[in-house]
Amino acid sequence: MSDPFNFPQQELLRYGHLVEQGLERLTSSGQVILGAGVSQFEAAFAAWLGSNCRPEQVIGVANGTDALELALRAAGVGPADRVLLSSHTAYATAAAVLRLEARPVFVDLEPGRSVLSPAHLAELLAAEPPQGEGRFKAVIAVHLYGEACDLGALQPICHRHGLALIEDCAQACGTTYRDRAVGTWGDFAAFSFYPTKNLAAFGDGGALVVNRPEAVEAARRSRFYGWDPERQAVQFGVNSRLDELQAWVLLGKLADLDAQIEQRRAVAAWYGPLLGDGDGAPLLPGDGADWRHSYHLYVIRLDPARRDQVLQEGRRQGLPLSLHYPLACHQHPYLVERFGPLPALPETERRVKEILTLPLHPHLPRENVEQVGRAVAALVAGAG
Ligand SMILES: Cc1ncc(COP(=O)(O)O)c(C=O)c1O
Repeated sequence: MSDPFNFPQQELLRYGHLVEQGLERLTSSGQVILGAGVSQFEAAFAAWLGSNCRPEQVIGVANGTDALELALRAAGVGPADRVLLSSHTAYATAAAVLRLEARPVFVDLEPGRSVLSPAHLAELLAAEPPQGEGRFKAVIAVHLYGEACDLGALQPICHRHGLALIEDCAQACGTTYRDRAVGTWGDFAAFSFYPTKNLAAFGDGGALVVNRPEAVEAARRSRFYGWDPERQAVQFGVNSRLDELQAWVLLGKLADLDAQIEQRRAVAAWYGPLLGDGDGAPLLPGDGADWRHSYHLYVIRLDPARRDQVLQEGRRQGLPLSLHYPLACHQHPYLVERFGPLPALPETERRVKEILTLPLHPHLPRENVEQVGRAVAALVAGAG
């Protein structure tokens, strides 16, 4: 039975035929690894990103975490180097840093926003590094939920300190900052095509975008053992190839992506009036002065006691409410065990207790949005 809240299932119902079409292409070409599907998708995604992004700058990889890892490697990050990132993100962002044996240094949130604070970043960079600690090498700017980081402030800070700027666009496919897509601003960018993402494969997939022309070739080799065209290893590399069948699926879906982003924005606009503006009403997500939301996730904020009550009672009623994320990265037991208690991040720690994710995807019927919006509004009014 079809579940209107289940985005991957709804996508399969609409785009399942792309798998059959892709299979036909694989069968007729006999090329099942890094074939025409991957190269055509890379070129099409580059064109979709715009700002003169050339096809070779987009490198299809196995998933978004690999894209981040390869971006960090391309930026020259190695063991013990320090990488700055927000703690309020999918744990995958921190996992990519750990894979390099580098040290994550967590930056607090910009007040009232879901992305890192350039002011706190500058403060951390100005402080003397603790004795024996590695050098700062890169900043990962996570555009969480589809909200853009303040790239205009981050670029000069990174430039001043000689740091690579890596955009984590896993949740922000379709977000624009000023007149350009996110992913075209940093030295490198990572996209995920995990099945719940704005551009979703029917399995895993990701893309590394390289905006430093001199780094393109080496980054491309890094997804395939570090081989040159003669299949000689000339550098370090991994095996992280975008799957050919998924590439055909992504290429087919890319044609509808802009329309889907607009529909995500329409669903967000339906929620607004339902959630009210009375006493204790939630704070709602929205565009910024210089960026446009792509609504990967619709995350509202409530005071913590009210949030807990709404979540508990909402779940009891069977509402599809969730948390992104119940723990900030620096609160995960593994990180605490590995690095000892990490410095407090007041804004992040408060935010984790305030957030509540309501279902949003482009195929969600208006009646379901109204059902959830009204139910949440009633729970908010009754709580507190
Ligand atoms: C912000 C963020 N970064 C990185 C990733 C990693 O992507 P993937 O699951 O494709 O490895 C995700 C997805 O889960 C994400 O949401």
